[in-house]
Amino acid sequence: MSTDFLPIRGFDHVEFYVGNAKQAAHFYDKVFGFTPVARLGLHSGVRDRASYCLQQGNIRLVLTSALQPDHEIARHCALHGDGVKVLALEVGDVEAAMREVKARGATVLQPAASLEDEHGVLKTGIIKYAGDTVFKFVERAAYRGPFAPGYDALDLPRREGTGLAAMDHIVTNTYLGEMNYWARWFEEVMGFTQLTHFTDKDISTEYSALMSKVMENGSGKVKFPINEPAEGRKKSQIEEYLDFYCGPGVQHIAMNTADICTTVRQLRERDIDFLRVPDTYYEELPARVGQINEDLQELKELGILVDRDEDGYLLQIFTQPMQDRPTLFFEVIERHGSRGFGVGNFKALFVSLEREQGLRGNL
Ligand code: FE2
Repeated sequence: MSTDFLPIRGFDHVEFYVGNAKQAAHFYDKVFGFTPVARLGLHSGVRDRASYCLQQGNIRLVLTSALQPDHEIARHCALHGDGVKVLALEVGDVEAAMREVKARGATVLQPAASLEDEHGVLKTGIIKYAGDTVFKFVERAAYRGPFAPGYDALDLPRREGTGLAAMDHIVTNTYLGEMNYWARWFEEVMGFTQLTHFTDKDISTEYSALMSKVMENGSGKVKFPINEPAEGRKKSQIEEYLDFYCGPGVQHIAMNTADICTTVRQLRERDIDFLRVPDTYYEELPARVGQINEDLQELKELGILVDRDEDGYLLQIFTQPMQDRPTLFFEVIERHGSRGFGVGNFKALFVSLEREQGLRGNL
């Protein structure tokens, strides 16, 4: 048995580059129930950017905007729109992590470096991933502050939240022919293994198809599915993403909840729009998934999907895109034993996705 050369403790945070971080922070606070915990900007002596760190359960989001036009963050937003820039993973030793991935061919964008303030030392290192997306390794065992050096703590009352508890998986869209490249990159550079592989036979509709490989780290703590479009009669949802994001990037972030009905009900009350599957989906459901704990009528009313595999079942739902460009969206997922991704829902879901895509004039 080979040892895990890149022990990952879990997701540390996800950083978005957005046009207006202040308003985005308000949205994730008031709608999704994240509590703003720290911020950085002019008030803390940073002249070129503003960042807000928000937290709910074990999920940390960082929203960042440029304060100057000729700035990497501003250019990123002009090209991609609002989207995910940084996938941050917590490790015990950033220097070791950077040494291992560099030796295996990672493109280093920022070597291991220490940031320090009165709360302690935080170490980070950054490597390139698909498109303009990057992976950041974070070592925070010696840091006691609210998020990172340079940030001021925000002592706001903790929000009630919507039950979102942890990151489950984060999906990347890539161009046709790139999925295998990145799957191999995860294996060789990051020491991940392939958990599942979906072909266009699994995931196809009248209009489009996609292929997907799910990569998982040694401890199973983090999972990154990678999609690429497959040839269809019309433009696939992955191509629509690639056209509007102007390249590969993060397609969706799945977050766990222990009570998906309550979470979705609260998000619906706060005007989050979810994808709708046809009512016929629920007629076929009992035969497909068998006995589950939840009330079928409630699932139908809320539009929650169910899938079962040999280990158990899962409940899931997908939001509409989070910005005007049809790019990033969220998934809410509740697992009962299943370690899958809802392949049994893909078809019903993609018919629904394509209906929306058609309404946008992109099919
Ligand atoms: Fe997903």
